[in-house]
Amino acid sequence: MKILMVCLGNICRSPLAEGIMKTKIEENNLDWIVDSAGTGYWHIGELPDERSIAIAKRNGIDITNQRARQLKPNDLQDYDLIFVMDSSNYRNVQAFATSPQEKEKIELIMNVVKPGYNQNVPDPYYNSEGFEEVFGMLDQACERIIDKYRN
Ligand code: 4NP
Repeated sequence: MKILMVCLGNICRSPLAEGIMKTKIEENNLDWIVDSAGTGYWHIGELPDERSIAIAKRNGIDITNQRARQLKPNDLQDYDLIFVMDSSNYRNVQAFATSPQEKEKIELIMNVVKPGYNQNVPDPYYNSEGFEEVFGMLDQACERIIDKYRN
């Protein structure tokens, strides 16, 4: 399984999703691949936001090996599952897809927890208090992704 986590900047939410998912993949001895990307270009090459690094570290996860990159057309072919954080990401990535097969890979990440609710993972960039909630939501979602797609 090849999983891509996508948000807007690839510095706050999707790096956390990648780090959490990687940790669970290792804990479960799975041979899955996970990466993350942003739809925007503003932060290309940057480390994750220091607040994401901090909340990950408090939970025993090191995400300082990550560098922001922008979503590219081949990603929609190369990955099996593309999880987006909010409805705006969803629209942006859908617009990027070039076939029905690619469109079908795109899913709001919280729909694995509450199918059909279309719940957003809130953008914490301008809300430093939001990182705790974001971490909790993504931790729950990644746990469900393992349960849902293993075997
Ligand atoms: P992210 O958060 O999409 O979770 O990485 C954001 C990071 C940067 C910006 C917006 C959201 N920005 O506007 O620069």
